[in-house]
Amino acid sequence: MTSLLERGRTHTCGQLRDTHVGEQVVLFGWVNYRRDHGGRIFIDLRDRTGLTQVVFGPDIAPAAHEPAHALRNEYCLAVAGRVVSREGNANPNLPTGAIEVEVLQLEIFSEADALPLNVADDDRLDTNENLRLRFRYLDLRRPSMQKNFMMRAKASTLTRTHMSQLGFLELETPFMVKYTPGGARNFLVPSRLSPGSFYALAESPQIFKQLFMVSGFDRYFQITRCFRDEDLRHDRQPEFTQIDVEISFATPERVFEPIESLMTRLWKDVLGVDIQHPFPRMTWHEAMARYGSDKPDRRFGVELCDLTDLTRDCGFRVFESAEYVKGLCVPAEHAQGMTRSRIDKLTDFVKKRESGGAKGLAWARLQADGTWQAPFAKNLKPETMSAIAEKMGAGPGCLLLIIADDFDTTHTALCALRLELRDSLGLVDPQKPWEFLWVTDFPLFERNEKGQWVSSHHPFTMPREEHLEWMSTDPGRVLAQAYDLVLNGNEIGGGSIRIHRSDVQAKVFTALGLTQEEAEQKFGFLLEAFRYAPPPHGGIALGLDRLIMLMTGAHSLRDVIAFPKTQRGQDLMTGCPTPADDPQLEELYITHRQLPSSEPQDD
Ligand code: AMO
Ligand code: AMP
Repeated sequence: MTSLLERGRTHTCGQLRDTHVGEQVVLFGWVNYRRDHGGRIFIDLRDRTGLTQVVFGPDIAPAAHEPAHALRNEYCLAVAGRVVSREGNANPNLPTGAIEVEVLQLEIFSEADALPLNVADDDRLDTNENLRLRFRYLDLRRPSMQKNFMMRAKASTLTRTHMSQLGFLELETPFMVKYTPGGARNFLVPSRLSPGSFYALAESPQIFKQLFMVSGFDRYFQITRCFRDEDLRHDRQPEFTQIDVEISFATPERVFEPIESLMTRLWKDVLGVDIQHPFPRMTWHEAMARYGSDKPDRRFGVELCDLTDLTRDCGFRVFESAEYVKGLCVPAEHAQGMTRSRIDKLTDFVKKRESGGAKGLAWARLQADGTWQAPFAKNLKPETMSAIAEKMGAGPGCLLLIIADDFDTTHTALCALRLELRDSLGLVDPQKPWEFLWVTDFPLFERNEKGQWVSSHHPFTMPREEHLEWMSTDPGRVLAQAYDLVLNGNEIGGGSIRIHRSDVQAKVFTALGLTQEEAEQKFGFLLEAFRYAPPPHGGIALGLDRLIMLMTGAHSLRDVIAFPKTQRGQDLMTGCPTPADDPQLEELYITHRQLPSSEPQDD
């Protein structure tokens, strides 16, 4: 008898329907689930397309039935048999539920050890995550994970098709690059051929894609890996993938257009969802003022309301002395259940460093009789309270939550509070599943912890033409031609128009405190290239992993990156990073220093 592997499969496990009844088929797959009823043995055979029920019986084929007793979960096998109808006994929950395959021939390709995690019981993705990462190849067998990666593959293919159709060239850039300061911390790669020198792993193709523009490539894109040695979170991995784009003769609108059409196409072809474009735009200033965030979630209201002017001479020291006084109004239908202890918890929440570190949370409830329940109200004149209520649009039953502090604290804490309320009160409007937004006009500079001006994006970002005059006098006021693409409160992309004029570049370097020599030393090759007639240009990079996370509804990048790292940057499956052998290090002229004694704990 020819082996089934030789014969090859005729169908996948998700393919057979009642129209196939009577056909002879060969299926390959894994045992998802097995029921041995003594007489008959039922197996759900699984591949990445789905499940098919296959049946072994002494009455069907004893030669196949006998070895089938030995089958266990996740064995890999081939079956040949005939498709029969399950009429009267169909499984409506399974696309192949109208049929089953009566097995005439069985071939076991390989057996599985006792399983460390349950592959078939896919609802239990809450299995200890470290175990999932340790046995990642099994974790990736789960249908829900396979769905994520099939969606990711489809989105990548579509991106290539779409960008190519729009006239973008797919070009590659090096991963091993010259270290340039600023931006994220780099991973370093020692050079054996130049002992004592290092490459950096590229944190993005930024400089190279700009050089492509100098070379006249006009429209570039690449789906590429980026490497950043950052502190990791659920939406940050040390290596991640960008859809990277650069355009010559660009204006912001000319960058938005292909990105909007790409998003529209991905949502339509992958999710079957129509999204409207052009996407709305909002300046950074407006986003901060209304949502306290440069990546606002606009699927719900509860916006920030500015009370600073109203409370300037209100008599309440906390408000009067603060740079900003702003608040949120929780609508009556949601505020009803918010007890005193719940408000105390919210106060503790806004005081936490990671949610802004506010000094307190002032609250006020407008009662049905028009009076206020508000610990701080005794300090305020009734007309001030009325003015606050009016400005915040508060009616009876509403709860006002107010923070008085400096710009950063007030906005960060109210933004965190707003998102906390979104999650705990279920504020997202189900009619608005996808809210895309361009946030534009970011400040060109921001201050670092030491109070020095640093680039908000990167030092090649073009300021607004009309703000050039403030570059030396008031750098904080200068706005950049920079933009982010935001989806449901997540930053999924960012980019800018670049500086192609040496006079503007020199002003930016001066504002950043870089001398001409320092700039030459750090970015000399780029500045040199720009002496040979660069075209005006600009671009953007989208975080592919974040996009797929949102498209699949996953909560962590780890569910959409096949082999991700833990929060401590470890790969639990291969056990990397690992120490290097002395001979390896010797070859690189690297010697050990005493390691810190404490063993790092993984998350
Ligand atoms: P930026 O640094 O904003 O821009 O990155 C672009 C997008 O990449 C995603 N992203 C990440 N995703 C996962 N893990 C990370 N650690 C991570 N860091 C960033 C985000 C982000 O919006 N060269 C510029 C782009 C340009 O100006 O054209 C750049 O890299 O979704
Ligand atoms: P205190 O005067 O410190 O007793 O505070 C009176 C009320 O104002 C309390 O409910 C505090 O939580 C609140 N509060 C204190 N500091 C702030 C602040 N910076 N912003 C808003 N409310 C505050």
